[in-house]
Amino acid sequence: MKQNGKPTALIMIFGATGDLAKRKLFPSIYNLYTKGKLERFAVIGVARRPLSTKDFQTAVKNSIQTSNDSPADVNDFISRFYYHSHDVTDSSSYTALNQLAEELDGNYSLEGNRIFYLAMAPEFFGTIAEHLKKDGLTNVRGFKRLVIEKPFGHDLESAIALNKQIRTAFSENEIYRIDHYLGKEMVQNIEVIRFANAIFEPLWNNRYIANIQVTSSEILGVEERGRYYEKSGALRDMVQNHMLQMVALLAMEPPIRLTTDEIRSEKVKVLRALRPLKAEEVNDYFVRGQYGSGKINGEKVPGYREEPMVDKESNTETFVAGKLMIDNFRWAGVPFYIRTGKRMKAKSTKIVIQFKDIPMNLYYQTDQTLNPNLLVIHIQPEEGITLHLNAKKAGQNMEATPVKLNFSNKGADGMNTPEAYEKLLYDCIRGDATNFTHWDEVALSWSFTDKISEVWENTKEASFPNYQAGTMGPKAADELLEKDGFFWWPVTDLDV
Ligand code: BG6
Repeated sequence: MKQNGKPTALIMIFGATGDLAKRKLFPSIYNLYTKGKLERFAVIGVARRPLSTKDFQTAVKNSIQTSNDSPADVNDFISRFYYHSHDVTDSSSYTALNQLAEELDGNYSLEGNRIFYLAMAPEFFGTIAEHLKKDGLTNVRGFKRLVIEKPFGHDLESAIALNKQIRTAFSENEIYRIDHYLGKEMVQNIEVIRFANAIFEPLWNNRYIANIQVTSSEILGVEERGRYYEKSGALRDMVQNHMLQMVALLAMEPPIRLTTDEIRSEKVKVLRALRPLKAEEVNDYFVRGQYGSGKINGEKVPGYREEPMVDKESNTETFVAGKLMIDNFRWAGVPFYIRTGKRMKAKSTKIVIQFKDIPMNLYYQTDQTLNPNLLVIHIQPEEGITLHLNAKKAGQNMEATPVKLNFSNKGADGMNTPEAYEKLLYDCIRGDATNFTHWDEVALSWSFTDKISEVWENTKEASFPNYQAGTMGPKAADELLEKDGFFWWPVTDLDV
């Protein structure tokens, strides 16, 4: 499969004229290419619209940042891109695609390795997978892998149906379900911080941790995605996947080995331990919000109901806050609070681990009680870790003052850390599925969020819109923590 240790593959991107291909996939492949991680490869862009290979290559060229590179490199790079105008329901179109694939396989010595990347409307995922098998594209000498973007279904039932369809053509270990949060540097760092440090793991449990808060807030609204978002909402768009994945990484037991199967199986156990909610409990544990108009960076922005393709009476949530309980030995009694939303005050993904108060406070801070210790994991935009401690305030008195120990990833690793997509694509080409979602994780996550969506879809939220654009969400989200004697640590004050 490999020569010179460099992976080799033909990558077919379905949805090659779409936004994801342009913004993430082409630049990622280009970065891998310039870093010398890909040697023998070719790409077939597959999409409905008629387009010549030359025009497609120009589109690829326009999507990549080429400022530091010689034109020769760029020309060699784009010369590996081909275009196939495709009808997803027509077998003859697949046969033609297969012919092109075989030709390129020979020309570039790709050893029969194929990656099918579905970066398009999810309603076609199943049909495409079935055709790939039926029309011979999965009949390869090398490996075959299916990369599939979210959403993976709309609820558990539709996810099962979709999984069944794609499993006719690919086995579970050939399916790479993308959750781009798993490609983020600091999300991957959660495991390392936890399992490579003697000082955290002994404290990482209900004896020492008071609560864990995971926030992923966005400034942007739904933009052009109203049609999709109306059916999705923040629960399906962010909680079912990214938020629960982060919780699983924070809560999992140390794997016995760092292998894909061992890590995934520990994450699955966390999702199995999530306390399921009964319909009548949903509103005690979860809060939904929808943004109204407001101001962001001094500019007025419309409310969700005024966005294009959105129902004027929409009941869709653009914000979710929730309290998750993980009913196992390690976490019994420790709330994991999550919140995510659009049109909030800041673009920020942060995890705050709040430790319990010390048993007796000997010191004091002027006008305040002692701060609890916090470990803050900064996922984005800044990447790093901060440990909040108490130390002596300089001077005569034995007065305590909060101090911070900071690690910023930027400082250590120099310029940019690689983009999530670049890492995930490379993992897939190398056959490492660790940072992709296993079917069991998808199924358990849906079964948890389905209970919430059932209740929310059947009851219209009269208070919508209930938060102003540019704020941190509805008041009820604060009350969710206040009931337990906690509060959200303000993400903007915790920056590295
Ligand atoms: C996507 C959601 O999965 O994640 C988007 O569909 C959301 O609605 C995006 O904006 C957030 O990703 P990031 O990497 O910007 O936090």
